[in-house]
Amino acid sequence: MSLIKTEHELEIMRAAGAIAAEVLEELAAFVQPGVTTRQMDEFAAGQMKKRGAKSAFLGYRKYPCHLCLSVNDEVVHGLANDRQLRFGDIVSVDCGVTYKNFIGDTATTLAVGGCGVAAQRLMDVTQQALSKGIEQAVGGNRVVDISRAVQNYVEGNGYSVVREFVGHGVGRTIHEEPQVPNFVDGGGSQKLRPGMTIAIEPMVNAGRPEVKILKDGWTVVTQDGSLSAHFEHTVLITTGEPEILTCVGKMPFALKPA
Ligand code: MF3
Ligand code: CO
Ligand code: CO
Repeated sequence: MSLIKTEHELEIMRAAGAIAAEVLEELAAFVQPGVTTRQMDEFAAGQMKKRGAKSAFLGYRKYPCHLCLSVNDEVVHGLANDRQLRFGDIVSVDCGVTYKNFIGDTATTLAVGGCGVAAQRLMDVTQQALSKGIEQAVGGNRVVDISRAVQNYVEGNGYSVVREFVGHGVGRTIHEEPQVPNFVDGGGSQKLRPGMTIAIEPMVNAGRPEVKILKDGWTVVTQDGSLSAHFEHTVLITTGEPEILTCVGKMPFALKPA
């Protein structure tokens, strides 16, 4: 299967990306102290449905929720549950939607009500690291150019990047070639070509990079208990500037639901 999307496929990818971004935006307004991650998951399911989309995560490798909701020292793949979020918590929300058989994948870390300066700085650096990666996502560059930009920015700010999970190509399925690591490991020599769509997603720990998986079989947490943040966009490689697909406002007029 070609990694290069046709213009028709890209029109649908833009719509899928816009829906995923809109759902995250709705969640940012919905989250507040006292809300449970289960309520966030159910709210998101409704927001997806309203837009003619569904979760790309639910059922993937038997994943049981619509979103990944990872609180504080949780890195990724946190399960929705009845824990009430508290003022000052940070929650990483990963939202993958399927729309007309194509996927938009985007994540953000939100403060619940507000948060301390350490948490805010971690979120800012992670979001900036994503921007640094996106800047390198241009035709002719290699995957490792993205990896290097992310890693250098994160480590230059005193944080660490998670090694066990990586970004990825995305299209009809959530995880396609190539892998897009947030670190330089000798791989990543693959050339970026116009028409490729990739998810860039730095997972950044305030402390050590090591993670472990909880007994639920999904939730990934930092081994040292430090805070973690996660930002992600689905990006189209072009001959010029990268095009961020998971942006509110990308929904082509003709595809807008009534
Ligand atoms: N976190 C992954 C990504 O954004 C997707 C999660 S798949 C799930 O690439 F099954 F864990 F939800
Ligand atoms: Co994601
Ligand atoms: Co992803």
